[in-house]
Amino acid sequence: MSAAARAVDVWKVYGVGEAQVIALRGVSLEVERGKFTAIMGPSGSGKSTLMHCLAGLDSVTRGQVMIGEAMVTGLSDAGLTKLRREKVGFIFQQFNLLPTLTAEENILLPLAIAGRKPDQEWYQTVINTVGLADRLSHRPSQLSGGQQQRVACARALASRPEVIFADEPTGNLDSRSGADILSFLRRSVSEYGQTIVMVTHDANAASYADRVVFLGDGRIVDELHSPTAEAVLDKIKSLDLTVGAPE
Ligand SMILES: Nc1ncnc2c1ncn2[C@@H]1O[C@H](COP(=O)(O)OP(=O)(O)OP(=O)(O)O)[C@@H](O)[C@H]1O
Ligand SMILES: [Mg+2]
Repeated sequence: MSAAARAVDVWKVYGVGEAQVIALRGVSLEVERGKFTAIMGPSGSGKSTLMHCLAGLDSVTRGQVMIGEAMVTGLSDAGLTKLRREKVGFIFQQFNLLPTLTAEENILLPLAIAGRKPDQEWYQTVINTVGLADRLSHRPSQLSGGQQQRVACARALASRPEVIFADEPTGNLDSRSGADILSFLRRSVSEYGQTIVMVTHDANAASYADRVVFLGDGRIVDELHSPTAEAVLDKIKSLDLTVGAPE
């Protein structure tokens, strides 16, 4: 089976000369369809950069990115916009909802922009799964942080995208709301076959994933399958030792 998203020897260099930062140094990654993949690593290791490159939000300096069968690398801005609309869902740390729209309008906005009608049965499933049925007419300011993030999750899922990218989706939530979001993401993978890539700093959050990929200084340095929070913490500890050691 083909990957839902794929990076092949991806390099990302920001700036030039003395200001140059090499954020990714030859990353190759296959994101398996219907799986929940977590990306971990120290601050500045390239997690967000990798996610943005995979999602077509940022261009790569070298290498290739594919989403499903579609080549992302080399697309025009218009092509990228279309690809993101059709194939990608996003969940950010700062929920990124439009304040003047209701929850329901926010959830349906990407479909509306793409000129698509929601599949009613799927829409109801999403609303019920995120537990928002009685909050649909509320605006973001009338919702708690956890509820706002659930709206963002529903928005990402509404179009059943090829892959959902989430950058620290629980970073701004208390542990209870965070656990709700993580269980919801887990269910959308296990029960509905959604593919999710999530950046996180939190070993407990990573333990909801099927696979954890560890980045260090722009490279993939290790990975875990079916991780427990304990195994993730152990791995981080052991990686810290090698990262800190002289070359
Ligand atoms: N637009 C940019 N211009 C220049 N350098 C950048 C840019 N974006 C990221 N970087 C640099 O690239 C490196 C990787 O950044 P990135 O945001 O991917 O890290 P991260 O692993 O997501 O970190 P964090 O956990 O703090 O979010 C960092 O050194 C960062 O300073
Ligand atoms: Mg980041």
